Amino acid sequence: MDYDFAILDLSDDAEPAVARLRGWVGAVLRGFRDPRPDDELVERGIGHYRTDRVTVRGAWLPDAELGSGPMPVATYASLDKTLNAGRELLPLRMVTDVTTSPAHRRRGLLRRMIEADLADAVEQRIPVAALTASEATIYGRWGFGPATFQHGVEVDTSPGFAFRSFVDPGRVELLEPADAWPHVEAVFTAFHARQRGSVEWPTQYEDMHSGAYDFNGSGSNRRIRTAVHVGDDGRVDGFAIYKHGEKDSVNVEEMAALTTEAQLGLWSFLAGLDRVRTVSFGMFHPQDPLMWALSDLNRVRTTALREFLWLRVLDVPRALAARPWAADGTVVLEVDDPQGHAAGTFEVTSAAGVATVVPSEGAGEVRVTAETLGSLFLGTVPVPQLRRAGRVEGTDEAVRRFAAMTDLDEQPYNLTGF
Ligand SMILES: CC(C)(COP(=O)(O)OP(=O)(O)OC[C@H]1O[C@@H](n2cnc3c(N)ncnc32)[C@H](O)[C@@H]1OP(=O)(O)O)[C@@H](O)C(=O)NCCC(=O)NCCS
Repeated sequence: MDYDFAILDLSDDAEPAVARLRGWVGAVLRGFRDPRPDDELVERGIGHYRTDRVTVRGAWLPDAELGSGPMPVATYASLDKTLNAGRELLPLRMVTDVTTSPAHRRRGLLRRMIEADLADAVEQRIPVAALTASEATIYGRWGFGPATFQHGVEVDTSPGFAFRSFVDPGRVELLEPADAWPHVEAVFTAFHARQRGSVEWPTQYEDMHSGAYDFNGSGSNRRIRTAVHVGDDGRVDGFAIYKHGEKDSVNVEEMAALTTEAQLGLWSFLAGLDRVRTVSFGMFHPQDPLMWALSDLNRVRTTALREFLWLRVLDVPRALAARPWAADGTVVLEVDDPQGHAAGTFEVTSAAGVATVVPSEGAGEVRVTAETLGSLFLGTVPVPQLRRAGRVEGTDEAVRRFAAMTDLDEQPYNLTGF
């Protein structure tokens, strides 16, 4: 079947263009099994996409076909923000809204759009692409590898919950979400600048976190509560956005802190909420000190651990130079890439935490696929573990050298879903 592939012009306000855009939003919600959008959701969504200069791609049936109309049979969107690579905020191509109608699946529609978009990112000199996936089996074939994890916890805050010695030198205040938003945004911006793995927030986060609009419901979000932490210097240095749930539970939707005191101070506040017995949070920081600061570390129970951010390196020298390196050394790295963007052999020389990466000739000492490179890039998983999984090739000595250079002490972490 011939499909009509198009990139929609978001500035075109003529009726057929607007109808196609509305149909596109409807197709995205259908793809994610959500209810049909109302007018406000469409308007807000399109407004944010204009602000973020999102590229909106779709595949439509040709005019004469049954079912042709403004609704596409496949959708795909991407936008450019930044990724904290450890030493630098790198330009990042963020892929989102990937859906194919169940009536047109497995005919190469996603393949056609993602390959066009990755080629465009390379042309625009964007070194890394990212997405979050509904299934872990889809995106490895396009060189994406899991790079951060979503760690869900449930904290038992029933009587007996106690810190060993922590006393908050600051304090927590509850603000209305709209009033809290400038503080939330400022804390996130500072967090993004210092946290390896962090992805910049797309524009719709303002609607979500100020309570202006609930993308999972409709109308304003009247349920969220925002607590901000004020450090002993009087500055806001952390926030938690949460909702009361059923059975004396609280669910934290977003939390970020710039200091250990702010992190523990927010946990202490949440644990102290009267008549609340459990506090859950789906994005626990891998180095969150909470467990080790409590009298009873079993109060923190892991409820989920799954991949979250997927990364795809498009420009190997640029990307590798933007990450930190653990030890001095040189290794010749060979990358195998089905799309070719990261393919080649590269001499990586690290000195004092910084690498220079230059194309090299011949075979590499250490060989990985682009997919594995996506998981190694931020230091998500140690090289020896990947080797035992059969995903890093090379002699014992070369892999040991590569591991000493590449493996980082601290895990990357990303809060941003898109
Ligand atoms: C995931 C989805 C977008 C795939 O679209 P599609 O147009 O059917 O994909 P394509 O036909 O281009 O498939 C290309 C390749 O990916 C594979 N693939 C596609 N979906 C897959 C899946 N869910 N699991 C495993 N492999 C998958 C295909 O088998 C094909 O592999 P091959 O070319 O190596 O043989 C579609 O199934 C969908 O809309 N799912 C529901 C919404 C969703 O989960 N979106 C993803 C959000 S990140």
